[in-house]
Amino acid sequence: MENLSRRKALSLGVALGLAGVAAPARAWASTGSVTAAAAGTGPEWIWDSTADPLMASMLDNGHVPAINTAWASWVNNNDPLPSGVPAEFAAYLRQVNVLPTWADPVKLARAADFNRRRDTYLFMLYGLGSGIMSTVIPREARSVYWSAGGANMQDRAAKTFTFGYDLSQLGAFEPTGQFVVTANKTRVVHAAVRHLLPQSPHWKAVTDETTPISAADILVTFHSLGTYVHRKLLDWKIPFPAADQEAFLHSWQVAVHLLGVPDEHIPQTWAAAEQQSAQVLTPILTPTTEGIELAQDLLGLTAQIDLGVTRGFLNEFVRYVLSDQVGDWLGLTRDYASAALIRTAWPAYILFREGLSPIMPGTFYVFDQFIRALAMLFLNKGASGTTTPITIPTANRAA
Ligand code: HEM
Repeated sequence: MENLSRRKALSLGVALGLAGVAAPARAWASTGSVTAAAAGTGPEWIWDSTADPLMASMLDNGHVPAINTAWASWVNNNDPLPSGVPAEFAAYLRQVNVLPTWADPVKLARAADFNRRRDTYLFMLYGLGSGIMSTVIPREARSVYWSAGGANMQDRAAKTFTFGYDLSQLGAFEPTGQFVVTANKTRVVHAAVRHLLPQSPHWKAVTDETTPISAADILVTFHSLGTYVHRKLLDWKIPFPAADQEAFLHSWQVAVHLLGVPDEHIPQTWAAAEQQSAQVLTPILTPTTEGIELAQDLLGLTAQIDLGVTRGFLNEFVRYVLSDQVGDWLGLTRDYASAALIRTAWPAYILFREGLSPIMPGTFYVFDQFIRALAMLFLNKGASGTTTPITIPTANRAA
């Protein structure tokens, strides 16, 4: 299952609407990245030299439960750093809890405004598109499945929603926003996972890397989120002025920086992001046992709330946004009537909703309830309707 042939990769690329799928030999180029620094070691060999040794030591010395308690009240970007944590951990947070010097407040404010204006489409695309795509990214599916959080996908999905939700808030990057803290917590969780997963016999039996979540892996996930959503909005002809596109990219560049990816590997333009995505994401998409189970969990979770549509419709919507190839991999049961409806009525719905056509499709309210319900799932921070704080795991999934 793992070896997706080049022909399959090409046809999948076409199905996902990806440009330039024929990858040049060199997958990771530093040119076109934020600082355009000289090419260094490839990001597939970079993890997090600042956070990883620190979290290995915090875990080995039993400090993590106390850190989890102490940082529960550390939520807003301008909250004081948590007290009662080991001095090295406090020093680390002081060092990383800042925006990069190149962060542009004007662009970040515009991105936040764009995110608010477009939140319904964004939540739907992140949730059903990127969320399900993550289950056919083998390294991500396997590490998520075998880490502690994989055992409770509902809780994990709620935590992941926190990332998207905090990123989409109006003042996300401002002192009263929460995104800088959420990103920093995520970076620490990833560092802990890098220490824990290599101790899991289950993960070791299926993985192709010695340490999970390299900078390259994070960029792959960025493409399944930001790059994918950007492309879909354009494909769907949703008005997306150049300044909004640039601001949206900038907010993701800052997010990826805060997750610890060195600046020289962060794409500088959407064109560079598309090129990198075609090289490093499309060819690796393939099903795994773990990913198939995660996808069923995630779709089951979405089915728990009333989206106003059947499970068959949901399956077909996932196929519509990710291709039949992905739907077949994940065993999503067909509902041909819904498939036909989505193919014709969704574009008409967008045209009407965006004021580009005066004709309201008869199915307007079905789609409208569907995307609003998905947005509510995000805005309520998951099906539980409560905030699920991000906590550092101390063990792996048992079995
Ligand atoms: C944890 C987001 C990349 C694997 C988390 C959490 C967030 C998050 C918000 C904390 C919530 C939770 O515990 O579930 C992101 C974002 C990424 C990214 C925005 C890139 C843009 C990756 C990659 C991998 C990965 C590339 C693996 C290849 C994990 C795992 C956890 C985690 C295993 C821990 C789950 C647990 O608690 O057991 N991530 N992530 N992430 N992430 Fe990521």
